[in-house]
Amino acid sequence: VVDIGKLYGKTGMFTYDPGFTSTASCDSGLTFIDGEEGVLLHRGYPIGQLAENSSFMEVSYLLLNGELPSKDELDTFEFTITRHTMLHDQLRQFYQGFRRDAHPMAIMCGVVGALSAFYHDSTDISDPEHRKISSHRLIAKMPTIAAMAYKYAIGQPFMQPDNRLSYTGNFLRMTFGVPAEEYEVVPAVEKALDRIFILHADHEQNASTSTVRLAGSSGANPFACIAAGIACLWGPAHGGANEAALNMLHEIGTPDKIPEYIARAKNKDDPFRLMGFGHRVYKNYDPRATVMQKTVREVFDALNVSDPVFEVALQLEEMALNDDYFVEKKLFPNVDFYSGVILSAIGFPTEMFTALFALARTVGWVAQWNEMISDPGQRIGRPRQLYTGPEKRDYVPIAQR
Ligand code: ACO
Repeated sequence: VVDIGKLYGKTGMFTYDPGFTSTASCDSGLTFIDGEEGVLLHRGYPIGQLAENSSFMEVSYLLLNGELPSKDELDTFEFTITRHTMLHDQLRQFYQGFRRDAHPMAIMCGVVGALSAFYHDSTDISDPEHRKISSHRLIAKMPTIAAMAYKYAIGQPFMQPDNRLSYTGNFLRMTFGVPAEEYEVVPAVEKALDRIFILHADHEQNASTSTVRLAGSSGANPFACIAAGIACLWGPAHGGANEAALNMLHEIGTPDKIPEYIARAKNKDDPFRLMGFGHRVYKNYDPRATVMQKTVREVFDALNVSDPVFEVALQLEEMALNDDYFVEKKLFPNVDFYSGVILSAIGFPTEMFTALFALARTVGWVAQWNEMISDPGQRIGRPRQLYTGPEKRDYVPIAQR
C-alpha cells in the first residue's frame, strides 16, 4: 500500500501491484488453480480427468453452464454450435485485404472484431439470450476463422464446414482438406487435438482473460472483447510461447547444445529465457504439461512419426529440473513446452500454434465474459497509477523553448 499524495500532499492510499501478482480482480466460479501444488480444476473437475475422459464440447458446456451436460444436453449443445459454424459470405472478402504472409493472429484479431459488424442481432449484452447466441457464434466460428487464415496463407481455396463431423474433426478437415477430395479424419489425431483444446480452454485471470474482462467491463460487444483477448494472447510471454518454444527447440537442434542454452537462460545479461518454462501461478509442474507430454507419444504412435526435437525437449526438461537455478526459482515446463511438438507432428505450421490456442481459449473468454456481465456488482475496470511525471508547470510558447 502506498501513499498517493506524495506529490501534491493529498491524502489517500492505493495498493501498488505491478503485473497484478497479488490482486484479485473479480469473483469467479469457473477455474481454480493451486500453483504451489500444480492443481487445475474447471468447475471443480481436475484437468487430468477432463483431458482423459471428456471432450472439448463437453468441457465448453461445463465452463459455460457450470455442470457437466446430460447426453441430451450435450447433443443439443453440439447441434447448436454446429448451426453457427459458417461465416457470413462477405467475410470471405475481408481475408483478401491481408497480405498472404500475414500472421494468422493478425487475421484473427481483425476478423473476430469484424464479426460485430455482421451480427448486430446479438449484441445487446443486457439480454442473456443475446449473450448466449454471441457465445455460441464465437465458439462455433473460431475453427472456421482459424482454418481460413491458414488456407489463405497457403493460397488454397477455403473449405466450408462439414457439420456432420465433430467440432475438432471439422476443424482438421477445414484446415487440411481440399475441395473435391475426401478428407479422412484420423481418430487419434482428432482425439489429441481435442485434448489440446481442453487443456487450453480456460485458465482463470491470465493476461488475455483479464483483457477480455476489462474490455467487456465498458459494455463493449463480445466480438470486440474477444478480439482484444486474441491481441493480448499473441505475445510471446503468453500464448505466443508455444510458437517460441518450438522455434527454440529447433534452434537448439541436438541434445549436446542444451547446456549452452541453459547457461544463456541463467545469465542475467542475456535476455534469453527458456520458452515454455516458468509460469506466473504454477510453482510446480503445470498439470497441463504432464498431459501434453503423454499426448506427444500417442500422436507419434498414431501417425508413425517421430521428431528429434521431442528428444531435445525431454532432455532439456530433465537438465533444467536438475539445475539449481530452475529449482530455486520453481521454473517448470508449462502447457506450451510440448504442445508445439504435437501440433507440428499433426502438420500445423508454427504460425498457427497461437491461433489454435485462441480458438480453444475462446470458450474460457466467453464463459468469463458472461460471468462478469451477469454479476450485479460488475463495474467498469479502472486501475489507478502512481504518477511519476513532472510537477505542474506553465506552458512555454514554441519560440521560447
Ligand atoms: N527462463 C529463465 N528464467 C526465467 C524464466 C525462463 N523461462 N521464467 C522466469 N525466469 C526467471 C526470471 O528471470 C526471474 O528471475 P529473477 O528473479 O532473478 O529476476 C524469475 O524467474 C521470475 O520471473 P518473472 O518474469 O518475474 O516471473 P513472471 O511470473 O512475471 O513471468 C512468465 C512468468 C512470463 C511465464 C515467465 O516465466 C516467462 O517469461 N516464461 C517464458 C515464456 C513462456 O513460456 N510463457 C508461457 C506462459 S504459460 C501461458 O501463457 C499459456
